[in-house]
Amino acid sequence: MSTSSVLNEAARILKQVRAGTPADAALRENLTRTRHTSAPALRRDVSRAVFTYFRWWRWLTPRDSLQNQVQAALDLQARFHRSPDAIKPEALAARAVPDWLAAEMDAIPAAWLQQLQREPVLWIRAKQKSSAAVAAALRDCVPSASHPTLATAFRYTGTSDLFLTEPFQSGQFEIQDLASQLVGHACAPQPGQTWWDACAGEGGKTMHLSDLMQNKGMIWASDRSKRRLAKLKERAARAAAFNYRAAEWDGGAKLPTKTKFDGVLVDAPCSGIGTWQRNPHARWTTQPVDVSELAVVQQHLLEHVAPSVKSGGRLIYAVCTLARAETSAIAAAFNAAHPEFEPAPVFAAVGSTTLWAHEINANGMFVAAWRRK
Ligand SMILES: C[S@@+](CC[C@H](N)C(=O)[O-])C[C@H]1O[C@@H](n2cnc3c(N)ncnc32)[C@H](O)[C@@H]1O
Repeated sequence: MSTSSVLNEAARILKQVRAGTPADAALRENLTRTRHTSAPALRRDVSRAVFTYFRWWRWLTPRDSLQNQVQAALDLQARFHRSPDAIKPEALAARAVPDWLAAEMDAIPAAWLQQLQREPVLWIRAKQKSSAAVAAALRDCVPSASHPTLATAFRYTGTSDLFLTEPFQSGQFEIQDLASQLVGHACAPQPGQTWWDACAGEGGKTMHLSDLMQNKGMIWASDRSKRRLAKLKERAARAAAFNYRAAEWDGGAKLPTKTKFDGVLVDAPCSGIGTWQRNPHARWTTQPVDVSELAVVQQHLLEHVAPSVKSGGRLIYAVCTLARAETSAIAAAFNAAHPEFEPAPVFAAVGSTTLWAHEINANGMFVAAWRRK
């Protein structure tokens, strides 16, 4: 495939993005449209070129053609890959993230900014029973070394379309970022328990909880989106995860059930700052108002689910963002309003922890945990 076809196709998609389509949606649409007409390697290169453009966006010259800007971004990426320290921390602080971020975070580590400019890796989560077989079948699987409980997490370094592989189609693994997998491990549900995955979405974490529970016990999986719950059911069927019940819930005071749970996970909607390495376009579309509006939603969600945690049960709050208002401030407000809960261990910390992209080579995530006294 020629470089010019990659640049032209990337430029075409960038025009769509300029017209208002988010980059990941435009790329998904392109993947679907060209699935039967273009080579997988070309589609991969086009996706990479589009994301690279947004990663280096503030280094580019807007009056150049889009093709030239994409080429300049790819050159910067290659240069950064060869010698990351060639780009000074001050330049990263000024150009890799929007200016408003400094006011929203307690500190912006230089190593995190450097990580944002690296190309992200791909993580998969195998079912507990299948992890050795999945790694053998896919090959090119590097086990995660970052956490002892992560025998089922692998970094995939190959080039196959994973969705077309037999182990995927038979439900033996999912594509799931390591940070999301760590949220499942922070919950650490036991077989036979009753859990509520209150913002279950398409079920990434529901399926992980189900596997950790060995399909025993019950998980209520709720979301306000019918479409996402339909997708959850499809994925759960493929993974043969049966110990769940899907229910619509709009996050309001009227709960989907009166059940008292051993554990409740609130994997809340958030501004997604922790995903900016994987989705660099979001750096330039997310606004401070998103942070403040979502913080209100997050606080309401926690307030509404808290009465459903049984005595001795745990409440886990997770967001793939790093803004103070959505992380430590939410935890502090909950602590102040709920003396009937006490901060609980979350990995090596008590109460809450931040998973940084540069430490785990994955999305950034904030996780807080409480136990009802
Ligand atoms: C971070 S995503 C969940 C991802 C999912 N847990 C997973 O692992 O795949 C947040 C979810 O919260 C849902 N949501 C947003 N606002 C909500 C609300 N007010 N009440 C209930 N769910 C809400 C969204 O539909 C979305 O699916």
